[in-house]
Formats: sequence, C-alpha cells, structure tokens
Amino acid sequence: MSNKPLLTVNCLTVSFGQNKVVDDISFTINPGETFALVGESGSGKSITALSVLRLLPNAARMQATSIALQDQELTKIPEIDFCKLRGRRIGLIFQDPMSSLNPVMPIGDQIAEVLKLHLELGKEQIQQRVLELIKQVEIPEPERRISEYPHQLSGGQRQRVMIAIALAG
Ligand SMILES: Nc1ncnc2c1ncn2[C@@H]1O[C@H](COP(=O)(O)OP(=O)(O)OP(=O)(O)O)[C@@H](O)[C@H]1O
Ligand SMILES: [Mg+2]
Repeated sequence: MSNKPLLTVNCLTVSFGQNKVVDDISFTINPGETFALVGESGSGKSITALSVLRLLPNAARMQATSIALQDQELTKIPEIDFCKLRGRRIGLIFQDPMSSLNPVMPIGDQIAEVLKLHLELGKEQIQQRVLELIKQVEIPEPERRISEYPHQLSGGQRQRVMIAIALAG
C-alpha cells in the first residue's frame, strides 16, 4: 500500500467577519487511519470538515495553503468537478440530521439520490442497494422504514440515515 497521505490540510484559517474560528490548522490523514479531531463545543471541528468539502456557509472566509485529496488539490478545482467527488470520494455525516435531511422526502429516496447521482444503476438495483444500506446501518425493519419520513424515525435512526447517505457513494 502506498504511504502517501489520503488527505492533507495545510494552514487552514476560517473567519466569520472579525471572528477567526479556525486558526491555521494543519493535519494529514493516511490511508486506513482513523483520525479524530477533538475540541470543545464551538472550537471549529465542523467548520474544518465543511472547509474540506467546500460546504462552508456564504458568510465564511476561508484561506488554506493546500487541501489535497491524494494528488488532487481541492482548492483549485472548479465547483462542477467538486460535485463529482463530493459524496463519491469524500462523504460527510452531518451533525444535525433534522436540518440536513429533507423532511418531505422518504428516507429511501434520499439515500437513492446519491446512488442515482454517482452510480449507473437500474431502478431495481437502486432499490436493492438502498435496502442493503439501511440494513448495514442497522435500522430495524428496513422494508417498512424505507418509505418513512425523517420525523417518523428516532434521533439515532436519523443519524443512521445520514451514515447510509455518506456510505452510499
Ligand atoms: N454561519 C455562521 N456564522 C457565524 N459564525 C459561525 C457560523 N457557523 C459557525 N460559526 C461559529 O464558528 C465556530 C466553530 O463552529 P463549529 O460548528 O465548527 O464548532 P464545533 O467544534 O463543530 O462544535 P460542536 O462540538 O458544538 O459541534 C463557533 O464559534 C460558531 O459560533
Ligand atoms: Mg460540530
């Protein structure tokens, strides 16, 4: 296995107005490595992750020397190319499922969206894969749950739907 880093973040700084919420952070994550970014509430962990995925709120100002996924410099690629790797090569389990899941769409359809976007699968295969993903994240009674809406699930089950979406690509 190559020992080149999977993800490299160099000198990342993020501000909201005068408020610097991420101050010159650098780290690398190697293939197969589990990396935990630990810090008190509000210390900038989510903002760091959102910076990597280029999903920061509009009000944020971001600067980084480099954010690289293997050999690909993410700060330099156009948004249209970024869309192809977001959800496919990098996934994110958002912290708050109630504001990330669509309240008016069954959870199965929300998982299927990722599959449709990134993989060339037929209708049957998509349905099959959605069921597999729901089983994989251990939501009980997947056949029934697939057509339920986020508000019909428990908090933990909603979090599991977020994990299924992140795994789907
Ligand atoms: N849209 C925004 N506008 C202004 N400030 C923001 C915005 N989003 C986040 N912040 C600020 O950025 C800082 C870092 O927030 P972040 O969400 O990264 O914290 P966190 O480390 O993930 O915390 P937690 O452990 O509570 O999830 C916080 O002080 C927060 O108030
Ligand atoms: Mg957070």
